[in-house]
Order: sequence, then C-alpha cells, then structure tokens
Amino acid sequence: MSCCHYYEFIQGQESVFAVDVAAIRFGAGALMELPDESRRLGMERIGIFTDRSVRNIEPVVSALTNLKSRGIEYELYDEVQIEPTDLSFKAAAQFAKEGRFDGYISLGGGSVIDTCKAAILYSHYPADFLTYVNAPIGKGHPVPGSLPPHIACPTTSGTGSECTGIAVFDLLEQQVKTGIASRSLRPSLAVIDPRCTHSLPGAVVAACGFDVMSHALESLTAIPFSDRASPSSPELRPMSQGANPWSDMGSREALRIAGRYLERAVADADDHEARHKMMYAATLAGIAFGNAGVHLPHGMSYSVAGLVRDFQPAGYPNEKPICPHGMSVIVNAPAAFRFTAAASAERHLEGAALIGGDLAGAGADDAGEVLAVAISRLMKATGMPNGISEVGYGQSDLSALAEGAFAQQRLLCNSPRPVNLQQLEEIYSSAMHYW
Ligand SMILES: [Fe+2]
Repeated sequence: MSCCHYYEFIQGQESVFAVDVAAIRFGAGALMELPDESRRLGMERIGIFTDRSVRNIEPVVSALTNLKSRGIEYELYDEVQIEPTDLSFKAAAQFAKEGRFDGYISLGGGSVIDTCKAAILYSHYPADFLTYVNAPIGKGHPVPGSLPPHIACPTTSGTGSECTGIAVFDLLEQQVKTGIASRSLRPSLAVIDPRCTHSLPGAVVAACGFDVMSHALESLTAIPFSDRASPSSPELRPMSQGANPWSDMGSREALRIAGRYLERAVADADDHEARHKMMYAATLAGIAFGNAGVHLPHGMSYSVAGLVRDFQPAGYPNEKPICPHGMSVIVNAPAAFRFTAAASAERHLEGAALIGGDLAGAGADDAGEVLAVAISRLMKATGMPNGISEVGYGQSDLSALAEGAFAQQRLLCNSPRPVNLQQLEEIYSSAMHYW
C-alpha cells in the first residue's frame, strides 16, 4: 500500500489490517423497517433496551407501535442508566436472562447500546463480572462464542457504539471507567434514523458532536497499524489495531462534516440538515474508531468522568453529578494533541484543516498548537467547559486523574507517542483551561 507514508512495512511488523463493520441502514424513517429486519435476522422474541426519556420521543414511539402492529413479540426494559455501572449492567443482564430472548434491539444513546451488549454477553455466558472486562482492571478473557442478533438504533449523534464491539461502564468499587471490548459484541445491524436527533437539547448535540470529532481525530492520529508486531495468529490481532487506510477514510469525512455542521446542529434544533449530517458523521467516525481505536483524549476522559464531584452540565437530567462522555473527552483533547503532535505532525495538521483550523504559515512544529486552537475555538463557540478546571478539577487532583488514565493501557498503547504517568499529569495540568 503506497497511499500514505504513514504505513511502512517492515519484516516482523504487522502487514495486514482488519475491516470489521456492522451492517448499516441509515436514513430518515429507518426505524420503521425494524419489523422486517428483526424477521430477517430470525428474531421472534425480542428484548428491547431503552431509557425512560428516549422511549417517549416520537420516532421511538412510532417504531414500538409499528413493531406491535406487525405482530413482533417483545419485552421492554427502560431502566437503562445513563453512564452505566457494573451494577446497572448486572440488572440489565438479569432482565435478559429471565426473558429468554432470541434477539435484542437497543434504542438510545451509547449508554443504552452498551448496556444491551453487556446484558447479552452476561446472560448468555454468565461469569464473574470482571471476567470479560479489559485488563489490567479486569481479566480480559475473550467472549466464549457467538451471541444472538442485536439491532442497535442510536438516538444521539455521538458514541458510534452501534458500529463497535465496545461497552463502557463505571466500575463502582474502584471508581474507574473501563470497558469490555470484543468483536463478538459488535451489533449485527445498526439502524440509524437521524430524525431521533430533532428533539435533543443543543448541549447534548454539542457533547455528542465532540465525541464524534475526537473519535475521528484520534483514529486519524493513532499509531499506524504497521508499527505493531505481527500477531502469532490472526485472532490475536487487536480490535484497536491503530490507524489504517480504511479507518482513515471514515475519519477524514467525519471531520470534514463535523467541522462544517457542528455549530449549526448545536445552535438550532430545527436545522435538520445539520443534525442529520452530524448523525452521519457519528456513523463514519464509529466505523473508523471501531477499526482503529482511540487513544489519549479518550484514555484521559475515563478519570475526568469517573472522579467528577459536583459538576452538573446544562441540558442533562439533574439527578447526580455527571460529566457526559463527549465533554469528558474534549476537555482533554487540545492538551493531548499538543503532546502527540510531535509523533505525526502531518496528520495533526490535516485534522486541524478538516475541522476548519487556520494553517496559514504553520509548519510541523506548530501542528499540535494549530489543532488545539481549532478544537478550542469550536468548544468555546458551542458552550463546552473551558478545560478540566470548569469541570471542577484543580492542581491537587492531577495525580489521581493521571493514575486513572494510566490504567487505560489498552487505549494508551494506541497513542502515536508513548506516554508515562508523569507526562499524563503534565497533560492534565495543561488541560486546565484553554482560553
Ligand atoms: Fe467516545
């Protein structure tokens, strides 16, 4: 492959990349096709996962009514917790186990889709909870076999969870966010209906949109897949295999769309063009990071979200302190990309250009700063916190934040520039504020 100098083939290093993608149906009205798709996948008794607010939005109400009127048998679980935990995963798995379902539908944001993945896994292959959780926090055991069909229907334009084999949650006793990652968890089909975004508050569109942007930027700048050692057998090839020519395509187009439409989608719920475009960007970025993997901004986000004390952002239910996923990612991103740019300046500059950054007169040494400024400008324009200080963190939190991030080795290994504990503290320190 000679499309890009980023990929060099060296004896003993990886020379093959994998492309794993969920089947996708995308477009306004796609949810009305759920009865046909369920039957096609042989689903006769379906467990549906959602949450109490999503189940009341119009496209979801119509989809559920349509399933019923077409004679599809289902049971609804609407107790999914936003920012799920090991406890809420276990409760969902219990519902799945008791229901004896032969197929699943998830209707909601990343929390709902991730909860459905975990419920399917633990109800079909019961095990001690840490068995499948990523090492070193969990045991990282592989999923033992195939799983029943799962149709994932995202209602926010963010996580891309419908395209990935990753389920993220808070492990309560260790106060840390972590996940389960396996190709087996990837949904059988993603049904993506952008009408679901019409009723989202602007703040939710902003947080989700920055999640999309960071998925794409991190996939584009991740360590090249060809820098990894060749696996001893194909099944040992990691799902987060690093940047590759396939993920590059999705990342670039997702960034181009997000750079053009994010501000409009946040500012005006009636701007359906912008909201539909952001939904498509989320899908593309999900495909990209599902095959490449993310790195520092996401690795650092886990402790920003997990250690939050009393932060309650506008536009989210006021039940408990929370730093929404996309927000917890993007508050680190400018500082993280300043750090990683030295390893792949060209790609950092390209990312900045795609989201509307000003590259006039910029050279390789400016790449991190140019990208940081481009992201910060969009953050400011869409009401994001000005760095982690506005989420409630100060200098005394740096070591705890860094330790939490350092535990996310699966993600840190994907960084184009290796990072140690001390450097993580320094990056958090420079993420305190940006303007
Ligand atoms: Fe994310």
